[in-house]
Amino acid sequence: MNIPFNIPYATEQEIRYATQALKSGRLCGNNQFAKRVQAHLAEKHGLQNAFLVPSGTAALEMGAWLAGLQPGDEVILPSYTFSSTANAVVLTGAKPVFCEIDPKTMNADPEHIRELITPKTRMLLPIDYAGIPCDMESIVSIAQEHGLIVMVDAAQSYGSRYQGKACGSLGDLATFSFHETKNISCGEGGALMVNREDWLQRASFLQEKGTDRSLVLYGQKTKYHWVDIGSSYLLSDILAGVLLAQLECEDRILELRGKVTAAYLEFWKPYAEKGMVQIAPYGQYEKLNSHAFWVVFDSETNKEKFLLGLKERGVYAYIGYMPLHSAPMGQKLGYKPQDLPRTQEIAARIVRLPLYAELANDGLDYALGSMELVLETIYGDKR
Ligand SMILES: Cc1ncc(COP(=O)(O)O)c(C=O)c1O
Repeated sequence: MNIPFNIPYATEQEIRYATQALKSGRLCGNNQFAKRVQAHLAEKHGLQNAFLVPSGTAALEMGAWLAGLQPGDEVILPSYTFSSTANAVVLTGAKPVFCEIDPKTMNADPEHIRELITPKTRMLLPIDYAGIPCDMESIVSIAQEHGLIVMVDAAQSYGSRYQGKACGSLGDLATFSFHETKNISCGEGGALMVNREDWLQRASFLQEKGTDRSLVLYGQKTKYHWVDIGSSYLLSDILAGVLLAQLECEDRILELRGKVTAAYLEFWKPYAEKGMVQIAPYGQYEKLNSHAFWVVFDSETNKEKFLLGLKERGVYAYIGYMPLHSAPMGQKLGYKPQDLPRTQEIAARIVRLPLYAELANDGLDYALGSMELVLETIYGDKR
């Protein structure tokens, strides 16, 4: 049997909506499907003011410009993240300052963030790794103490909740990804959540190539002009149609992914209790979106054996991020691998398991059976 790492969820409705968008003759951004997506986000999760953009990467870039980052500014973000989080900072000329992760959650460590603050710090940019919300209570309180902007890279946490609120609604700005690898996908897509009323108008200028076209659409002007920097941060309505179809079955997707997570949790708990692996503290959270399930092994060698053993049985698990500070680009920026020893060490031991909705219906037993067999070869009687 073959168990891939991910299979995007799909229904026939995506095709119907995409066709409707095509036939409408209004294919560009911010049209009927974009409006329906925005209404869905607001009604279902209280996520107001979503700007639909071509990717999570574009959302981060638009957010960085909207935050007004400039050369000389510093932005604190975890090294344990995707390149796009850091690139958004670098593109503005600001400097990414990498912080350590909390090994219990793999998210930015607020204590280390605090140590890294300088008079140049302008923004905090944590991520919600694997759909697990970062420690926003501490992060927001640090930001308030020092007058900093908070943008959350919520690429992976659409559908998770933190202290009674949807991920994406916290912080000044937050970014979602709707890439093929995410729970809800339109192939490539994303959203910038602008949680500050006073930034909404400028966000619409940045999204529309630096023009005030939105004012013409709202009937406030008759002609639009070039008024600011900007780019084409718009999601085609064809893709917004695909996205809407996915969002309309988000509960079903979550239910199926939740079954896989529950099975993984039950399976891995005894290993975690015996100290062979570490898993996230799932019980601590109000609602998680089952985006990813990670396991940190007790050694890099055991992690490698596990990945290889599973692969031999056709089960595809993967490593996590390669830390950014020790990546070639991180080193070009002046970082050394030893600058963040905790991140460097944990990243070498982490594995992400296959997780997609259809796995709940087909292949879960095989995946778990394979994990059991491979773990037996690694830990034998110690299990
Ligand atoms: C944490 C994080 N940030 C940003 C991105 C970029 O999103 P996209 O692929 O939609 O550009 C990803 C995507 O995998 C991600 O995991």
